[in-house]
Amino acid sequence: MPEDRPHDGDDFQLVTRTGDLERTQYGIPLAVLAELTHRCPLQCPYCSNPLELEAASGELTTAEWLHVIDELAEIGVLQIHFSGGEPTVRKDLVALVARATEVGLYSNLITSAVMLTRDKLAALADAGLNHVQISFQGAEPVVADRVGGFRNGHAKKLAAARWTRELDLPLTINAVMHRQNLHQLPDIIDMAVALDADRLEVANVQYYGWALKNRQALMPTVAQLEQTTRLVTAAQQRLNAVLVIDYVIPDYYASRPKQCMGGWGRQFFNISPAGKVLPCHAAETITGLSFESVRDHSLDWIWNHSAAFNRYRGTDWMPEPCLSCAHKEEDFGGCRCQAFALTGDAGNTDPACALSPMHGRIFALAETESGADRNAFLYRNFSGGLPETD
Ligand code: SF4
Ligand code: FES
Repeated sequence: MPEDRPHDGDDFQLVTRTGDLERTQYGIPLAVLAELTHRCPLQCPYCSNPLELEAASGELTTAEWLHVIDELAEIGVLQIHFSGGEPTVRKDLVALVARATEVGLYSNLITSAVMLTRDKLAALADAGLNHVQISFQGAEPVVADRVGGFRNGHAKKLAAARWTRELDLPLTINAVMHRQNLHQLPDIIDMAVALDADRLEVANVQYYGWALKNRQALMPTVAQLEQTTRLVTAAQQRLNAVLVIDYVIPDYYASRPKQCMGGWGRQFFNISPAGKVLPCHAAETITGLSFESVRDHSLDWIWNHSAAFNRYRGTDWMPEPCLSCAHKEEDFGGCRCQAFALTGDAGNTDPACALSPMHGRIFALAETESGADRNAFLYRNFSGGLPETD
């Protein structure tokens, strides 16, 4: 039997793709992140995948993913972001993209691009892929290949970015920034323009999972962050008609938290390689929540009835200061995963908020760690991490 719902009266009426009218309590999520696999040739020390990575043997099969894609369309999801790990390690990627096209989903490939060939990309384009997002770890090989832990990766990414535009696919460059590469930001912006990207995401690392383990090596200084903000603001004005630049600052230095995932269980969900349905990519870091699998339940049921989704939906669950705050419908109390990582309770106000009693402490922590001598990474891998050596 479905569990009690915490916010009765919030029903939406929607027309599904099959033309049926459907009542659903929370609306229909706009987008899904399909993490096809945790396998990846790169070893980025800030990877958003969990510390315990899913082995290939546990991944959903092709038939299971095809069924999931059909279900996504049936419940009215609009966009599918194929991600990982590295989604191109899946041999069935073209078939999955083709099915997404067939059922009317907008598809985006989120890739490190080091395994792409021009032929593979052309096959994906032929299957109807709508957009490509390539991550860059720096502006040149010495820094970029070190951060990704993959030799010649940067050159392969440049080639893949060029093929993307030759095939007339829109391109987003995702640049994850931190203390070890922030000095390259001006060159990364120039690189994005030279590659004819439509969008550049300048995304400072957020600290969950692998990034939390590497926080001392990654945290930027306040001075670095201020300089970055100046640079990005100037570039946004200068390149107004050429390149959209999104900018995400590290939460530890923020005064207001981000509206993480558009609010827990509100617009978005994530499917793990083994088929677990999560409100966000890092949700499994929160102990004490359990997540249902597409192998056991329909997506429609999980979206509406999963206890984990309902736990932090809306605003009724909030403690003070959020509960009586004027911003609670804007940021939904910030990020649950960060609240858990920093306070041990995902139900607390995100300490990124200046009104959180923990805020001063995390700002001080960030300042201290940004001055740490530790620069060596613990690289992501399947056996608990690989310490960087000279
Ligand atoms: Fe947002 Fe809560 Fe901070 Fe208000 S108190 S700004 S709702 S996180
Ligand atoms: Fe999980 Fe923010 S990353 S709620």
